Amino acid sequence: MESSQCVRWGIVGTGQAAVDFAHDLKLLPDARLAAVCSRSAAKAAEFAQQFDAESGYHDIQQFVADDDIDVVYVATPNHQHKSVCITCLQADKAVLCEKPFALDSLEARQIVDVAQARGVFCMEGMWMRFIPATLRVKQLIESGVIGDVQMINIDFGVATHYDPDSRHFDLGQGGGALLDRAVYGLSLISFLMGSPDDVVALSNIGETGVDEQSALVCRYNRGCLATVSASLTTNTPNEAVILGSKGHLKLHNPFFRSHRISQASSHEPAESPDAGGFVTNIKKRLRSNHVAQILHAKLGSFDVNSKVLAEPFRGNGLNYEAAEVMRCIRAGETESGLMPLAESIEILQTLDNVRDTIGLEFPGAS
Ligand SMILES: NC(=O)c1ccc[n+]([C@@H]2O[C@H](COP(=O)([O-])OP(=O)(O)OC[C@H]3O[C@@H](n4cnc5c(N)ncnc54)[C@H](OP(=O)(O)O)[C@@H]3O)[C@@H](O)[C@H]2O)c1
Repeated sequence: MESSQCVRWGIVGTGQAAVDFAHDLKLLPDARLAAVCSRSAAKAAEFAQQFDAESGYHDIQQFVADDDIDVVYVATPNHQHKSVCITCLQADKAVLCEKPFALDSLEARQIVDVAQARGVFCMEGMWMRFIPATLRVKQLIESGVIGDVQMINIDFGVATHYDPDSRHFDLGQGGGALLDRAVYGLSLISFLMGSPDDVVALSNIGETGVDEQSALVCRYNRGCLATVSASLTTNTPNEAVILGSKGHLKLHNPFFRSHRISQASSHEPAESPDAGGFVTNIKKRLRSNHVAQILHAKLGSFDVNSKVLAEPFRGNGLNYEAAEVMRCIRAGETESGLMPLAESIEILQTLDNVRDTIGLEFPGAS
């Protein structure tokens, strides 16, 4: 594809993710929404009209036969990902599939096999990885500013309206906190540290059989622990804190599309011209002052060794992953180096192992 050519997108599904993505595509001058596919003709027509797409389909085979589509964004519930992705790939359409890539690692491998056999681009839509703040945190860790990473704590919890038939609570649709939320934390630690060597987990299983809450502890043999907690039933701070031997970094709420990073050093600067001098003495006094401690608790850190880095981004944040897909397609790449297919499979394998330990199976998976 010519670098100047507009990339023509198709979307499958017309729910929340599809709406957010269609809005974000409008931020990319070299992208255009060509078509949408819904189970309902009326919804397809309405969505196409709302986002200026030329075609609305209610038959996936007719949709993938449209020569005006270069790449498909798959925004259906989790249990539909495998079949929709494979249908698109078999028609030689490039694919960006919403997270989680599939219900389990076996399904993920089946999608990847088709993509690789046909030489067609495919990527899990783990949009968090392409947000500027996430990339900045990775860069900061690699630069050594916080030293060796020793602990990572990530939580993702939002009290979600209870509807047993919704994609969140329906086991048949691949519901539950693990695939909807813990997958972000696991993907983040994998992005920053690679695959963990050991994972243990505990969950609360709800009435519909999904894990309503899960807490994972991941161990890296090189001396790092990561906790990943996820909840459908309670609101949590939604932060990611990475603690190293020389300081820490925090991706502020919501960590998966954060606008702000806190960076703190746990040491006095080695070259401080003030070592033992005026500023150091003031800081020591402030730390032992009762009023200053209350202010610190209320206002956050006033330590000169900490700072907040602003990382603004545009839109809902889905435009960054779309831009990466378009870059790859134009460069003739069949996967992204930032979200490789093997890593999507590996993350699902970790989730498979967790589900084995908590005894949770998806009916109809694989
Ligand atoms: N919403 C978000 O902020 C968000 C963020 C990140 C990732 N995701 C991921 O995106 C995917 C979709 O999430 P969503 O929040 O957009 O869900 P949603 O609002 O329920 O929409 C899913 C859409 O998929 C289509 N669909 C196809 N088969 C379906 C079935 N058997 N049951 C229900 N809908 C079916 C429906 O469109 P038609 O009726 O037109 O066929 C429906 O509107 C999930 O994999 C989720 O993990 C969502």
